[in-house]
Amino acid sequence: MNIIDLRSDTVTRPTEAMREMMATARVGDDVYGEDPTICELEERLAGILGKQAGVFIASGTMGNLVAMLAHAGRGDEVILGDLSHTFLYEAGGISALGGIHPHTLPNLEAGTLDLTRIQLAVRNRDDVHAPRTRTIVLENTHNRCGGIALTADYCNRVAALAKDRGLTMHLDGARLFNAAIALGCPITDLTQPFDSVTVCLSKGLGAPAGSVLCGSREFIAEARRARKLVGGGMRQVGILAAAGLYALDHHLERLAEDHANAAVLARGVAGIDALSCPQAQTPDVGAWTNLVYFTVDGNAIGRPEFDAIELSKRLKTHGVLAHALGSSGKTMRMVTHLDVCSSDIETVLAELRSCLTGT
Ligand SMILES: Cc1ncc(COP(=O)(O)O)c(C=O)c1O
Repeated sequence: MNIIDLRSDTVTRPTEAMREMMATARVGDDVYGEDPTICELEERLAGILGKQAGVFIASGTMGNLVAMLAHAGRGDEVILGDLSHTFLYEAGGISALGGIHPHTLPNLEAGTLDLTRIQLAVRNRDDVHAPRTRTIVLENTHNRCGGIALTADYCNRVAALAKDRGLTMHLDGARLFNAAIALGCPITDLTQPFDSVTVCLSKGLGAPAGSVLCGSREFIAEARRARKLVGGGMRQVGILAAAGLYALDHHLERLAEDHANAAVLARGVAGIDALSCPQAQTPDVGAWTNLVYFTVDGNAIGRPEFDAIELSKRLKTHGVLAHALGSSGKTMRMVTHLDVCSSDIETVLAELRSCLTGT
């Protein structure tokens, strides 16, 4: 059976051409700073993102952790969204390993945080009772808020507030290239408000592993130390950097295809009884990218046994993989990527109809 895997954009496999680049990559010991391919990738991404320096990190989770360790100390506080990846899905690493106190604020529909609430969340530095607020963390695109792209204008407004209160800004830009393409703006417009930015190579860009954390020279020197501390110093890792360089050359522009496929999927899903897809109905909130979230309500078609969990089980038997999310059993996520083409989307919509209605 041909499997269409929409669980995540992390499921892509390196192409033959990418493997060829990896196999022939020049390598050295990266902990000694001697891997030429890593150095090339770090410099290139720092340049693309408009920052002074970059450091290669094994994963997006480790990239955010290392950034937090470089921004904040034990007992310090960071402000972040209650639906942010760092808060929800990174195993509480910033607290467990960094002793950093997460101060969550509700993520609004568009993945943003309310500016007034941010203002109120910043602690009084002179109060001995309060943790010290250090950093504000935003996520772009925002995964749990539907893969929506945050605008530069919004990020600049948060940055102005941060500057005023003496705070730093970190961006979890796991899918930042998707955001820039969806918004049609230079990526530096989206990175400029931030002191540090992580981008992932292993998601829409299709590399097998790796993220790069970028910032000032001084910040990245501190981050290198934090990377070593968490056991993230790797050796001849230019093999992975080669995949990242290949992805930057060949897989960037095509992210627009993933967005177009996701839009067709969202509209198709919204037209199926029992499914509702808010992002197909709220075009003005922001730019949608390659993630499609929808809810499943079997009652609407007289089949109460159908929730997202049941639907994902049935889809699997039809060769379509997708995640049911959260504890409610209602939400499902589908993600378009390099290994999914437009005809796959038609197949997925047909399988959804077939599972739900038996037609
Ligand atoms: C927004 C966001 N940040 C960070 C990560 C973590 O990346 P990794 O899986 O490489 O640790 C993910 C993973 O999906 C993500 O969606």
